[in-house]
Amino acid sequence: MRILLFGKSGMLGSCLYENLSEHGHSVFGFTSSDGDITNTRKLKILFEELTPDIVINCAAYTAVDDAEKNQDLAMKINGRCTGKLAELCKTYKAVLIHFSTDYVFDGHKKTWKESDKTSPLNIYGESKLLGEKLIAENMKKFFIIRTSWLFGENGKNFVDTMAVLGKEKDEVSVVNDQFGSPTYTKDLAEKVIEFFVKKKPILAYGIYHITNSGTTNWSDFATYIFKTLFLETKVKEITAEKFNRPAKRPKYSTLKSTKFDFGMRPWRKAVKDYLRKYFIIAPY
Ligand SMILES: NC(=O)c1ccc[n+]([C@@H]2O[C@H](COP(=O)([O-])OP(=O)(O)OC[C@H]3O[C@@H](n4cnc5c(N)ncnc54)[C@H](OP(=O)(O)O)[C@@H]3O)[C@@H](O)[C@H]2O)c1
Repeated sequence: MRILLFGKSGMLGSCLYENLSEHGHSVFGFTSSDGDITNTRKLKILFEELTPDIVINCAAYTAVDDAEKNQDLAMKINGRCTGKLAELCKTYKAVLIHFSTDYVFDGHKKTWKESDKTSPLNIYGESKLLGEKLIAENMKKFFIIRTSWLFGENGKNFVDTMAVLGKEKDEVSVVNDQFGSPTYTKDLAEKVIEFFVKKKPILAYGIYHITNSGTTNWSDFATYIFKTLFLETKVKEITAEKFNRPAKRPKYSTLKSTKFDFGMRPWRKAVKDYLRKYFIIAPY
């Protein structure tokens, strides 16, 4: 089976690429420089040469706040060009595995299932929703996996930010009125490979929700990170309104998986596992 993966240098892309290679899959990974998803001509050449069975798209415009001012670029990468990628998958008879976000929802209720009405509050969410819609319009053999609050190696994420701030500061202000499910890229990648990277998938095509289990808010998340790292840093709880970021975020965005139980472990266990890297002592 031949797999083409876009966004190879990103947080989720690098983890999936590594895992797929370790599992002995024949995977061709591309970064934004050698596999720009906005370059349809180049994509056609790649599809023609590599004839993939599966295309995994981890490429995305993920700067949520910047997307408010770079609306055109976000809509192009996450929306229109994702649609073009789906068209190519259909032409070349490849299954598309694509990732989307909890930010397609407006957060007015506590949990969100796959079929719930989408209504993004920010441009990033709108652009990801456009991508979802264009995929569904252009092809049938797709898996769209919505996930949330990702952390992992090779990417800017909340856990690393707090680990650094916790060592530098006595007190850190963190938002307490937004709730969601932190998700470790390693856990997500394992489930994606187990359930979706298959010649004949056991699950029906469509939209799935995969996150680590449990819900928290950003300030309790930060408190847990400090506690696990034995840091005495205090968390000052503030409201999202006070934090005042350019992009509005949903108050509640916990994704419920109603189609299948992926058996994801609790987010605290996953965070603890990820934080082990901070305990590694340099050999000099
Ligand atoms: N991070 C989260 O908390 C989160 C939450 C929910 C859903 N998701 C979704 O999960 C997926 C992976 O997210 P992530 O956090 O791993 O993202 P990431 O670390 O920002 O990686 C995204 C990758 O996309 C690449 N890219 C950007 N524009 C591209 C283009 N035009 N052509 C090809 N590649 C391009 C980037 O390459 P360069 O670095 O070279 O620009 C980067 O390596 C995305 O679909 C995202 O929307 C993420």
